[in-house]
Amino acid sequence: HMAHQTATVQNFTPRVLIFPFPAQGHVNCMLQLAELLGLAGIHVTFLNTDHVHRRLLQHADIQARFAAYPGFLLRTISDGLPEDDPRSGNEMRHVLRSMLETTKPVLKGMLSTCGDILGSDSSPYITCIIADGIFGSLANELGNELNIPVIHFRTISACCFWIYFSVPDIIKAEELPIRGKEDMDRRIKSVAGMETFLRCRDLPSFCQVSDEMDPQLHLVARETRQSSRAQSLILNTYEDLEGPIVSHIRTHCPKTYTIGPLHAHLKVRLAKNVSTSTYTPSSNSIFEVDRSCMAWLDSQPFKSVIYVSFGSITVMKRDTLMEFWHGLVNSNKRFLWVVRPDMVAGEVGNDEIPAELVAATRERGYLTGWVPQEEVLAHGAVGGFLTHSGWNSTLESIVAEVPMICWPYFADQPIISRYVGEVWKLGMDMKGVCDRKIVEKMVNDLMVERREESARSTAEMARLARNSVNEGGSSYCNLDKLIEDIRLTRK
Ligand code: UDX
Repeated sequence: HMAHQTATVQNFTPRVLIFPFPAQGHVNCMLQLAELLGLAGIHVTFLNTDHVHRRLLQHADIQARFAAYPGFLLRTISDGLPEDDPRSGNEMRHVLRSMLETTKPVLKGMLSTCGDILGSDSSPYITCIIADGIFGSLANELGNELNIPVIHFRTISACCFWIYFSVPDIIKAEELPIRGKEDMDRRIKSVAGMETFLRCRDLPSFCQVSDEMDPQLHLVARETRQSSRAQSLILNTYEDLEGPIVSHIRTHCPKTYTIGPLHAHLKVRLAKNVSTSTYTPSSNSIFEVDRSCMAWLDSQPFKSVIYVSFGSITVMKRDTLMEFWHGLVNSNKRFLWVVRPDMVAGEVGNDEIPAELVAATRERGYLTGWVPQEEVLAHGAVGGFLTHSGWNSTLESIVAEVPMICWPYFADQPIISRYVGEVWKLGMDMKGVCDRKIVEKMVNDLMVERREESARSTAEMARLARNSVNEGGSSYCNLDKLIEDIRLTRK
């Protein structure tokens, strides 16, 4: 009987369950990880919410793409909300709350049945869970109860992760709460490694609280601390970019694997399998992609266009949109601007758009709902990126050697923009203000005045990124170690 059992045990291939938070910036980099594991022959079950699944099937060809990987399965779970509930801006909080309340028993039920739900014949069991670190405690509890190793994946920057991790220290040092607008420039000295440049206004939005008992603050701190109890932690970053901060993280989470920038890493590993010439950046989009902007870019001069996008979640008032619009037009530069249909809060189109804006935009601008961003950033006509400093966008910009103007919206974005402006010197931080004069000035500074300087620093950071994902580089080696860990998981 024993002999039979051992034989069975060794015949099953390890299978990983990957479970992202249902937002574009989480789903796409976790799909990139799934593809990297697929390339290594690991069986993956990718679990999306019904909502994200429907949109992925509608806008991206992921089913066909992943069919190339043996054992790859796409599965779904409810986020607990009605399908027509809004899911951008602040509403993402409801999604998180709803999932924390409803997901665990459902997922536990799925994980407890062998084969038919989450697995296949050759790999019927989930032998390892890679969960979005946002679900830190949920994943750890499931892992403990079902005896499955759990790995956390954080889609945020290491610098943000480290601030979340340091929240108890910040509170102990009495550096939180923040006392009004006048307090925003105060230095925060209790986050190791950031003593010399961190201000209240640079803290991740969930840490910019007026009450130290703020539930959101304690939620992110608690979930982040859970990563020290996971088997390991995966970060989409690289040692030459965030190494000093990752060293601090490793004092609590010793097995921290930096394997990014994932999109560049995937490109390298795919090139070993298919011929490089046929490779195009994979699309994991949950929005309808408008490719017509590429032809427009083709007809623009070298590095003449400022690309403007605020990611998948940002919502702004119409007034703010108009300040950006005037600023862009007054800068006299060409611009490609992503305005998602759900980006502007309140009534749109009620007021007249000034004729001069319409005329200038027709002449040198291009407005669209969603673009193939990796390709846009890699296009020779793009010379700058006005961004909300989402982590994926930041990494994509670095790899493409495009300097940034940062207008952070929420979450990790305020600390990323501080690093971009102050530490990495890859652009300018425009946080907290939106005024047409400032937009105009910053665009001109970036595209004209400081062009040489930013070209040098972005080229260097991009070179380091490429080195880290190339064979022998730190991210490349770390991914190999992670793959080894996963291969050792058994059921
Ligand atoms: C969110 C958070 O903002 C981010 O900070 C966190 O780290 C991950 O989740 P999001 O706000 O959407 O993500 O920004 P970002 O991380 O930049 O991700 C957006 C993704 O959408 C990028 O990969 C970008 O290439 C893609 N995108 C954006 C497009 O493909 N087309 C577009 O028009 C705009």
